[in-house]
Amino acid sequence: GVDTLSRIPMSVLKQHNKRDDAWSAFNGKVYNITPYLPYHPGGEKELMRVAGRDGSKLFALTHGWVNIDYMLDECLVGFLVPDS
Ligand code: HEM
Repeated sequence: GVDTLSRIPMSVLKQHNKRDDAWSAFNGKVYNITPYLPYHPGGEKELMRVAGRDGSKLFALTHGWVNIDYMLDECLVGFLVPDS
């Protein structure tokens, strides 16, 4: 989880697009998805498509019923903000 609420600009999110350092934003929240990659029922490759990106749309399309807030609470990094 987060001790302080971090504000993550889009340009910073974009840098975390590697298998061993993957962040993704869902509904305004930025998560470190790296530890979850091996456990994703849809596979690592699918999940890596949203690494370094806003994955809200793809997530809603594939499984909007999954509760990401609950599942990835421990992986929350902060909140996505526009670049200033
Ligand atoms: C399946 C979680 C992101 C593609 C699943 C399932 C869960 C899950 C729990 C099983 C759902 C079920 O059986 O009802 C997550 C979480 C994500 C995430 C927590 C974000 C961190 C994505 C993204 C994509 C994706 C971004 C596509 C680019 C899929 C696919 C399946 C799946 C295709 C179906 C696998 C199958 O049934 O064979 N995911 N997912 N997921 N996910 Fe994700």
